[in-house]
Amino acid sequence: MIKAAVFGYGNIGSGVVRVIEENADRVEKAVGDKVEVKYVLDLREFEGDPIRSRVVHDVDVIVNDPEIQIISETMGGNEPAYTFTKKALEAGKSVCTSNKELVANHGAELIRIAAEHHCNYFFEASVGGGIPIIRTINEALTQEHLLEISGIVNGTTNYILTKMDREGAAFDTVLKQAQDLGYAERNPEADIEGYDAVRKIAILSSLMSGQNVNYEDLHVEGITKISSEDFLYAAKLNRSIKLLATAKKVGEKYLAMVAPFMLSKDHPLASANDVFNAVFVKGDMLDDSMYYGRGAGKLPTASAVVADVIEAARNLGRHLPINWEEQPAKLVAFEDAKHCFFVRIDRASADEAKAKEVFGKGEVVTVDALANEFAYLTEEMSEKEFAAKKASLNGVLSAIRVDKRA
Ligand code: HSE
Repeated sequence: MIKAAVFGYGNIGSGVVRVIEENADRVEKAVGDKVEVKYVLDLREFEGDPIRSRVVHDVDVIVNDPEIQIISETMGGNEPAYTFTKKALEAGKSVCTSNKELVANHGAELIRIAAEHHCNYFFEASVGGGIPIIRTINEALTQEHLLEISGIVNGTTNYILTKMDREGAAFDTVLKQAQDLGYAERNPEADIEGYDAVRKIAILSSLMSGQNVNYEDLHVEGITKISSEDFLYAAKLNRSIKLLATAKKVGEKYLAMVAPFMLSKDHPLASANDVFNAVFVKGDMLDDSMYYGRGAGKLPTASAVVADVIEAARNLGRHLPINWEEQPAKLVAFEDAKHCFFVRIDRASADEAKAKEVFGKGEVVTVDALANEFAYLTEEMSEKEFAAKKASLNGVLSAIRVDKRA
């Protein structure tokens, strides 16, 4: 019998207990031994709940119990999760987490501490919820030089953009509906401003580069400026607008960022709609691949945590290396990154000839319903160059980067 504990009995933590207990037959078969949740750490009592007898309030009860070998950390946030995780790893207990904030902030350090204490720090559920993307990168694709990881890694924003695309609705209207349905938080800032996605791409690009990518060094734009007018143009261009978290190898450096992109409807990522997530990975030998599924939710996320618990249980006393060192990765400066741009321009301020003069070679796009404006699709240029050109032209209404691939 392998004894485990759960830090944080909220939505995901209670899901972890449920998956371990309801699917005990699958867990036992995979591990070759039973796994039992001995403790749950939480500030609350859970009176009347069958979990009550296993609830403890003091982390040291768990960390000092030699029977405990694996911990699921589903508390979320930096502290006290960071302190508790370090304590557990230093005591030689493997930790399996869904906490993207902690992984993005301290992943490399916690992996090193786990290595020093012959245990594991696993974080499958921190990106893409139930999509097994971390294990795919760390195990199935270790022979590859990864050239790109681009994902739709935030379900809330994908739901909003999908509704705007299908219904022609305005951002504020759809956000309000999403909040009423419980898909979006009452305080939606972390999702709609891209802060959740940027932590996830920092984790993925760290695994891609093998070095540490700090999310604070990455460019991040959310979806608050995307309008129903943008979608009219996107439809005309046979494109979707998606919030992409993207990391690409550029020479010996990496370009990682989060921003809305116009994406061909033929690109595999364009087929990920509603709350679903998808991660596109390009390897030098593998070529293109894509992984799709639920990026959030109690049971899909808990299932991913339990997959890590099983892996930890199969490898007690043995550290499985993860390619993520503490040394900072070499990043492309954002202003040097090159993209094509879609720019909406007010006809009262500038005409097509003026747009061509400012942005250079490109394509004019018009939509019948929007007679007072036109759009210009530029060729590839650096972010710095585009910002200067945009600032020099009166009448720019909005701009979105364009992924030119089919
Ligand atoms: N708020 C996140 C989302 C939850 O909408 O995808 C999963 O990390």
